[in-house]
Amino acid sequence: SAETEKYRPIYHFTPDFGWMNDPNGMVFHEGVYHLFYQYYPDSTVWGPMHWGHAISSDLVSWDRKPIAIYPDSLGYIFSGSAVFDRENSSGLGSIENPPLVAIYTYHDMEAEQSGATDYQYQAIAYSIDQGISWDKYQNNPVLPNQGIKDFRDPKVMPWTLENGNPGWLMTLAVMDRIQFFSSENLLDWKMESEFGQNQGAHGGVWECPDLIPMTAPDGSQKWVLLVSINPGGPQKGSATQYFIGDFEEGKFTPDDQLIRWLDYGPDNYAGVTWSNVEDRHLFIGWMSNWLYAQEVPTEKWRSAMTIPRELSLFEVNGTLLLQSSPAAEMKELRRKTYPLSQLQTTLPSEGVELEAQIKNEEEFSILLENELGEKVLITRANGLVSVDRSIAGQVDFHPDFPAVHSAPMSWESESIRIFLDASSIEVFINDGELVLTSTLFPNSPWKTARFSENLSDIVVYELNYED
Ligand code: FRU
Repeated sequence: SAETEKYRPIYHFTPDFGWMNDPNGMVFHEGVYHLFYQYYPDSTVWGPMHWGHAISSDLVSWDRKPIAIYPDSLGYIFSGSAVFDRENSSGLGSIENPPLVAIYTYHDMEAEQSGATDYQYQAIAYSIDQGISWDKYQNNPVLPNQGIKDFRDPKVMPWTLENGNPGWLMTLAVMDRIQFFSSENLLDWKMESEFGQNQGAHGGVWECPDLIPMTAPDGSQKWVLLVSINPGGPQKGSATQYFIGDFEEGKFTPDDQLIRWLDYGPDNYAGVTWSNVEDRHLFIGWMSNWLYAQEVPTEKWRSAMTIPRELSLFEVNGTLLLQSSPAAEMKELRRKTYPLSQLQTTLPSEGVELEAQIKNEEEFSILLENELGEKVLITRANGLVSVDRSIAGQVDFHPDFPAVHSAPMSWESESIRIFLDASSIEVFINDGELVLTSTLFPNSPWKTARFSENLSDIVVYELNYED
């Protein structure tokens, strides 16, 4: 059974078999969270992309569904988003039964191989049965290539047009920049502006953007622009940077020149937020890194998603930063509780959450160990929070996998929550003011956890969705 497969997560989403990368088309509709994803069912490495599909009513337990969108003569189905077209602006449903509309990139592999440069373009598919089955729009593409070959990963949101009419805004990754397009009907798109050629990190190509309106702690309206980048992340390989600024008249202006990273671990990429969710910014990312994603030692499938997170803004020393808290729904997974009276414990399962308060906020350490002497060390020292997976089991499938990953932290660490699963660790300091997400492939499950003396109120929760 799935439960006994080596490295199969207990509570993270994975495909049953085959290859998965980015989350796609995340939309909430009629009480259901849809999660689509880059999927190649015929192999455990990347290949002709489909959109796989899963649904959840609580964000934490997922039902796998049949493949939603298949590649065709226009190309592979690359990343994109989905919206609820409530007013049937596209005309693809009806007023009585408005459609869900997916906007994705076609990647025409044959065109690429024959030397063309216009092989990525945007297209749409729609569903009039609540996201179960999808039809492609007859006149695809809706946004042809404009002369730059990297032209992908449309994230669409409702937006008020210049003339005051309701419409849509598309945020698109275009090589080393973002382009914004607007539309009245999701079918015809007009360029509004571009951003980023001289801003942010540029160690690799820009991918999978998301533009999110958020409220700052002082009550002002800010816009957060997520931009995934591969390579050029702070831990090598792929990672997600973000900008904070204003979005007015179709144009994004950042507040400052700071480079900010969403997650300082090596394994959180291409994440974006769910559309059609009121008042919350719910995020999920692909829990891997293009550096070694296709070499990790799982057999039947490759890659998991991160746990769902809720994004918000907080301020530290006058600087706004993005907080990624574990979604409140994660508490629904708590089964048995083990409050600790000593600083060492045996872990009850491969799926656990560890929680502690930090007394001397400048340092702490937590050591995880298994019966084979393999270890993971989580520490704060010298202004850095680190996760060391250099001797955490199977590490030599790629030279960059065994490493210590550190994040600068200039403010106090007051609490820590760690989500451990069969092949991952997600560390949240101060409920997500700082996050490090890493995959791990121990040769035997983590058995003991040891806490430094300044950690208190330690609780171990066994996590599962079954009772
Ligand atoms: C990001 C990405 C996207 C692309 C997809 C292809 O991981 O490279 O830019 O649409 O993966 O699978």
